[in-house]
Amino acid sequence: MTSIHVDDLTITYGDNTVISGMNLTVEDGEFFTLLGPSGCGKTTLLRTIAGFITPASGRIAFGDRDVTNVPTYRRNIGMMFQDYALFPDKTVAANVAYGLKARKTPRAEIAVRVSEALERVGMEAFADRHPGALSGGQRQRVALARALVIRPSVLLMDEPLSALDTKLRLQVRESIMDLQRELGITTVFVTHDQEEALAMSDRIALFRSGDIEQLGSPSEIYRVPVSSYAADFIGAANVLPVTVSQASAGDPGEAVTVSLGEVALRGVRRTELAAGEAYAIARPEHLRLLAAGEPVGEGMTAVAGEVVRQQYLGQRQQHRVRLANGAEIETSEAASGRGFAAGERVAVLFPERETLVMAS
Ligand SMILES: Nc1ncnc2c1ncn2[C@@H]1O[C@H](COP(=O)(O)OP(=O)(O)OP(=O)(O)O)[C@@H](O)[C@H]1O
Ligand SMILES: [Mg+2]
Repeated sequence: MTSIHVDDLTITYGDNTVISGMNLTVEDGEFFTLLGPSGCGKTTLLRTIAGFITPASGRIAFGDRDVTNVPTYRRNIGMMFQDYALFPDKTVAANVAYGLKARKTPRAEIAVRVSEALERVGMEAFADRHPGALSGGQRQRVALARALVIRPSVLLMDEPLSALDTKLRLQVRESIMDLQRELGITTVFVTHDQEEALAMSDRIALFRSGDIEQLGSPSEIYRVPVSSYAADFIGAANVLPVTVSQASAGDPGEAVTVSLGEVALRGVRRTELAAGEAYAIARPEHLRLLAAGEPVGEGMTAVAGEVVRQQYLGQRQQHRVRLANGAEIETSEAASGRGFAAGERVAVLFPERETLVMAS
């Protein structure tokens, strides 16, 4: 098994620098996700790790082996892409056998390993079919078997689930997670789907136009985003412009009071703050609604507002509320709680500990 080291990596297309001086380590056996919006450089980095793109400068190593100038076919990589990239004129078994043949594996061993790999992904019954006669989910399982049969040092996957419908996506997701953990294979997974990233990853690198905005475990990134960009990209977040009266620096985590229109909103400082504009960020599930005038508990700021719409979703209910300063926020509560109709006057409760104040 193998760790992956990206050292001071710069990648360009002609004059266009897509990634500049990036550093990153993927630990041995880790499921590591590159997450970010379209065009931020996820595929570019993955293809450079695979050896399809030569970086302008910097270094890539697998363990202590520098592979920067090693061609793809000698990096021992398993790969899976969005489009299945199976050979349409070969059977499922022949598709899976392809990498072993290229490595001149003895025929008897190929037969054993191909059937093992197909069994692992639940496709042993389809060995003699052609890809054209398979569903999308089945094709991606074959692609997974083909990636793993060569016993790769690292597994690289570029949006392998995005062409599948929701149900199949969940099924193939589970196959990938089970196999990755069972084999302990170091994996770099690309997606722009934040839910997929949260569900599957040991760690996530959240990209923002070629840079890593935040790197951490799913719960770290969700619970302690470093910026409004991170909060907004992962999960739902209310991002409210606020005013800071006094600059503050030092360790994040101290209580601060900021102005949200006329209201003194209490929260927790996550970044250094300068006097002037900043953002308060609160997740919909952390906000609570009361009828206007009801008593407010400790550690909460009540902000008056009017319900714009209510949505009942079975397990949960959501309210959209217009605050006195004109900003609109979303709340999400258990549906067993009290609901409010459009037009009702309410107080939105912001818990101090869950209201994150940051500079950008
Ligand atoms: N072959 C290429 N030649 C020139 N520019 C490219 C090439 N491939 C990608 N780019 C540019 O590099 C940037 C990063 O592209 P990349 O494909 O890495 O993004 P991505 O994060 O994978 O996006 P998506 O989620 O849409 O797949 C984009 O601005 C893109 O236009
Ligand atoms: Mg891409």
